[in-house]
Amino acid sequence: MDKPAHTDQQLHPLIRDRWSPRAFSCQPIEDTALYSLLEAARWAPSCFNEQPWRFVVASRQDEAAFGKLLSCLNESNRRWAQRAGVLVLATASKSFARNGKPNRHALHDLGLAVAQLSIQATALGLRVHQMAGFSIERVRELYGIPDAFDPVTVIAIGYPGVPDDLPEDLRDRETQQRERKPLAEIAFVGVWDQPMPALVTKGEK
Ligand SMILES: Cc1cc2nc3c(=O)[nH]c(=O)nc-3n(C[C@H](O)[C@H](O)[C@H](O)COP(=O)(O)O)c2cc1C
Repeated sequence: MDKPAHTDQQLHPLIRDRWSPRAFSCQPIEDTALYSLLEAARWAPSCFNEQPWRFVVASRQDEAAFGKLLSCLNESNRRWAQRAGVLVLATASKSFARNGKPNRHALHDLGLAVAQLSIQATALGLRVHQMAGFSIERVRELYGIPDAFDPVTVIAIGYPGVPDDLPEDLRDRETQQRERKPLAEIAFVGVWDQPMPALVTKGEK
């Protein structure tokens, strides 16, 4: 199923077509594709090129590894994420390796890396669904994550499924239209809250 962004603006098809489905097909992801996704993340920009991201990867071909990360998800996410091809735990360093000072941009950098991974995934016909709904304590314990790193998201990656693959109560949500705030609400000029004029005259707000 496709759910492209509905927009009057020109968007690259990979950005337009990325979305976060819950229906996955259970098809395993080939190692070459998986490495390509991680490589896309690896080449993201980061503050001082610190590359504060670290990932723990669990492919469904390795049942024990997949089950281990799946067991860390909230029940509401586990119900659909169990059909993904790969689960990835995304973590970020809390401080700069160069001087030990807090790295307040690490989450930003991790987000960039995951965005690149998501676009690469879209190019390969894969879908990505990020999750905040998992137990931070459990991943810390099961994977021995050092205090210096924050577990941030678990990412489900897989080939697209169909809404019928989902528990009944999730099927409607799968087909709901994707929504965004209008540009005039998020892009200002001059002072805070002043929308860019062209956006106002275009009737965006
Ligand atoms: C950091 C982050 C955490 C998220 N956590 C969850 C989650 O726990 N469960 C879930 O179903 N979706 C989760 N999502 C998916 C968002 O709900 C989704 O990206 C948003 O509704 C926009 O939809 P789209 O990605 O299809 O454009 C999360 C997304 C992000 C970026």
